[in-house]
Amino acid sequence: MLSSLSASIFLSVLLARHARASVNYALAPSDCPANSQVEGYFFYSPQGAVAMQGGGLIMNPNGTMVYYATGFGQCSMRGLQEYEGADHLAIWVGDGSPVTGRHGSGYIYIYKNLLVDNTYSVVENVTVTNLGTGADVHELQITPNKTAVMTAYPTQGEAVFTWKALDHVDPSECYAAIGDAGTGTVDDPWDYFHINSIQKNDDGNYLISSRHCHTLYSVNPDGDIIWRMGGMNCNFTFGPGANYTWQHHARIHNWTTLSLPFSQGLLLNYDDSAMTVSLINARSPFNRTATTAQGSVQLLDNGDSIVGWGAMPSYSQHDNDGNILWSAQFGLVPDSAYRVFLHEWTARPTTPPSIQVSNTSSSNITVYAWWNGATEVTAWQLLGSTTDEPLVASPLVVADKLDFETALTFTGDRGYAYFQVAAMNADGEVLGFSDFTSLNGTTFAKADNQTITAAPL
Ligand SMILES: *[C@@H]1O[C@H](CO)[C@@H](O)[C@H](O)[C@H]1NC(C)=O
Ligand SMILES: *[C@@H]1O[C@H](CO)[C@@H](O)[C@H](O)[C@H]1NC(C)=O
Ligand SMILES: *[C@@H]1O[C@H](CO)[C@@H](O)[C@H](O)[C@H]1NC(C)=O
Ligand SMILES: *[C@@H]1O[C@H](CO)[C@@H](O)[C@H](O)[C@H]1NC(C)=O
Ligand SMILES: *[C@@H]1O[C@H](CO)[C@@H](O)[C@H](O)[C@H]1NC(C)=O
Ligand SMILES: *[C@@H]1O[C@H](CO)[C@@H](O)[C@H](O)[C@H]1NC(C)=O
Ligand SMILES: *[C@@H]1O[C@H](CO)[C@@H](O)[C@H](O)[C@H]1NC(C)=O
Ligand SMILES: *[C@@H]1O[C@H](CO)[C@@H](O)[C@H](O)[C@H]1NC(C)=O
Ligand SMILES: *[C@@H]1O[C@H](CO)[C@@H](O)[C@H](O)[C@H]1NC(C)=O
Ligand SMILES: *[C@@H]1O[C@H](CO)[C@@H](O)[C@H](O)[C@H]1NC(C)=O
Ligand SMILES: *[C@@H]1O[C@H](CO)[C@@H](O)[C@H](O)[C@H]1NC(C)=O
Repeated sequence: MLSSLSASIFLSVLLARHARASVNYALAPSDCPANSQVEGYFFYSPQGAVAMQGGGLIMNPNGTMVYYATGFGQCSMRGLQEYEGADHLAIWVGDGSPVTGRHGSGYIYIYKNLLVDNTYSVVENVTVTNLGTGADVHELQITPNKTAVMTAYPTQGEAVFTWKALDHVDPSECYAAIGDAGTGTVDDPWDYFHINSIQKNDDGNYLISSRHCHTLYSVNPDGDIIWRMGGMNCNFTFGPGANYTWQHHARIHNWTTLSLPFSQGLLLNYDDSAMTVSLINARSPFNRTATTAQGSVQLLDNGDSIVGWGAMPSYSQHDNDGNILWSAQFGLVPDSAYRVFLHEWTARPTTPPSIQVSNTSSSNITVYAWWNGATEVTAWQLLGSTTDEPLVASPLVVADKLDFETALTFTGDRGYAYFQVAAMNADGEVLGFSDFTSLNGTTFAKADNQTITAAPL
């Protein structure tokens, strides 16, 4: 485990069931990627007062919500990570409220990283132990060896691997003065290093990004620094446009290429024999609205990339040469999202679909249906029963699913008193049934003889 001080601000989040995130696209307005070009789902955690929906989100490219990470408290989406051969949703969870926005000493919170499978069941709690605190928000990497690399502070005690910045990096090689990054008191310590990403590579070495030292460190399993890229004591010679400051989310992709965002998303070629770094290409934000912090670069299989603009509330897709294809804005400055990922994802929750009956007239009712996190639903069917013993599920109406929540309206004076919805996939198979709900909102168990016709995931 690695340690450092770190600062992050988590605002409390309310789940408003009817709320809908709003995403504005720029560029290519006549061929909006919301509906045609982007495949997959965006995984991110908007923060700030204006973002309509904070917390952990999975979003369709058109801005409709697929999943809200509810029940975990404050959390931050880490995208998908492979674990035991399958993609798992990684979510950082921090209970409690960081009072000052800084994880100041004296405050102990339960910080952990959860790995969640495609039924939204938690399969792993990944956190640091015996360290006096849990994992902080900045990094989680599950390695193929079933180990997890995380950031935390302060560290004392047993861990598989602990690296303390102060043991290896003198504060004089960093750029954030006392006062600019903590006042240096016990409650507000000087965050001279600011670790913000770690990647453990197959050679066993760690790539550690220090934002405040403007440096990427290659660190061996003994904790020794092999090289420094960037900053005051740089081992590399940089070609034009390849240098960076205050960087984030550094990732080696193969043994010659690495990516990182600062106010641009850079793809760099490096050679750790000749000790040179050159720019492959850069990704600039739409309208050149530079970000001051955070951010991510994700390389897609086709060579395109997704850049999350961190402290700017937007993300964009870029082609192989770095040209911007589109940009999506999900809030107003200073809303932010730490990292943004695009992934394919198929998920079916173990919890049943949800239902709310909004009108208490049995001859004209509107039923709202939603199923948090389900990706396969294309239509909803409303079913009604006139009696509760036995409940008899008669199909009433079907509506296409266009958004997180779907309204189903039934008019007709046939005395239905108990209502239920069935979630259906594109083949018309039933994925799940909600409970029956009466007109006054009372929930009954679903009829036990109903059959889910879709094959299990
Ligand atoms: C995760 O750990 C917390 C305590 O930190 C515990 O309450 C919870 O049951 C654990 N969940 C799983 C799925 O192991
Ligand atoms: C996985 O374990 C092997 C054998 O111990 C080691 O050589 C390799 O560096 C490890 N890889 C990672 C990513 O931890
Ligand atoms: C990096 O530079 C330091 C001195 O600043 C030197 O001690 C070290 O050997 C260099 N490392 C490499 C890999 O060149
Ligand atoms: C990169 O280096 C050039 C030349 O020294 C300098 O003008 C520029 O400001 C540097 N860029 C960053 C991001 O530090
Ligand atoms: C390394 O990755 C980059 C970016 O994906 C790619 O352009 C390059 O061809 C790769 N190099 C090797 C040797 O695989
Ligand atoms: C681009 O940014 C400028 C300010 O820097 C702003 O006035 C303008 O409206 C922006 N254009 C778009 C299309 O957002
Ligand atoms: C049902 O109620 C809605 C208002 O909720 C109203 O707009 C609609 O006209 C009503 N339909 C019938 C058939 O009464
Ligand atoms: C409920 O439906 C009735 C018609 O059956 C309509 O008059 C009434 O406005 C509706 N109420 C609401 C809250 O939609
Ligand atoms: C459930 O069983 C009852 C009788 O046992 C039957 O009347 C009803 O139609 C069944 N419901 C469904 C949805 O199959
Ligand atoms: C948004 O995109 C999803 C996934 O393609 C689609 O199912 C849904 O109908 C779209 N909703 C709207 C309002 O366009
Ligand atoms: C709601 O309706 C159900 C079924 O008609 C009934 O059993 C229950 O007592 C009602 N609850 C309230 C609070 O009115």
